[in-house]
Amino acid sequence: MYIKELKDSKEIARAISDLIVERIKEKPNLLICAATGGTPTQTYQQLVDQKSRYSTEKLRVIKLDEWGGVPMDNPETCESYMQKHILKPLNIHQENYFGFNSNAPNPEEEIQRIKSELKKNGPIDICILGLGMNGHIAFNEPPSDFNSECHIATLSKESLLHPMAVGMGTNPTCGLTLGIQEIMQSKTIFLIITGEHKQEIAKNFLTGSVSKHLPASYLWMHSDVHCYIDKQANNKK
Ligand code: F6R
Repeated sequence: MYIKELKDSKEIARAISDLIVERIKEKPNLLICAATGGTPTQTYQQLVDQKSRYSTEKLRVIKLDEWGGVPMDNPETCESYMQKHILKPLNIHQENYFGFNSNAPNPEEEIQRIKSELKKNGPIDICILGLGMNGHIAFNEPPSDFNSECHIATLSKESLLHPMAVGMGTNPTCGLTLGIQEIMQSKTIFLIITGEHKQEIAKNFLTGSVSKHLPASYLWMHSDVHCYIDKQANNKK
């Protein structure tokens, strides 16, 4: 794993977005899997700011996960986030985007639909991840099986306390998420860890010990993970 400490989230956003722009130039139909939440927002903003440097005509995007049992147009869904921070500002064509429906009448069928979309379009070229307060990646909550695939997740209490869930005005009933397997099959993974509140989980993660109780630790088994951490999160005491 390549680990890079930078001063703050802005520097991280600049570094990662520069790398992504280069990749898009090499492969215009890159498939990017995007986490939502507070962590990657500045990276997406940087990508938008640099839009004149590359074409988004063929760029493909998949949503990493979604809250279940909530209308898609609730402003706190991952969908609303994707529309606001990525899809609209980057003019991603509708046929080049796929992601879970938060309010699918049959969530199990929805999981199968995304699995087959990914079979058709995958593997993911670049997967952008944040680190949950409990060590989750996407909604792969601890304990998570290494072999887990795209699935319906029971949300942990930490996930239910996430600002998106709190801001929804209704309790999400589950999570719809890519599994550890789909994430691990990504060619390149960027894991971003920022902020003082992530110190404790970051410290556990950085020990390098792999455990189902810290799902992000499976990333140590991947050959191309770039972990960017800011000074606030990387307290070495
Ligand atoms: C969001 C997601 C989550 C978040 C994680 C960190 O799509 O997959 O795993 O990345 O909960 O959230 P933030 O970045 O808000 O601290």
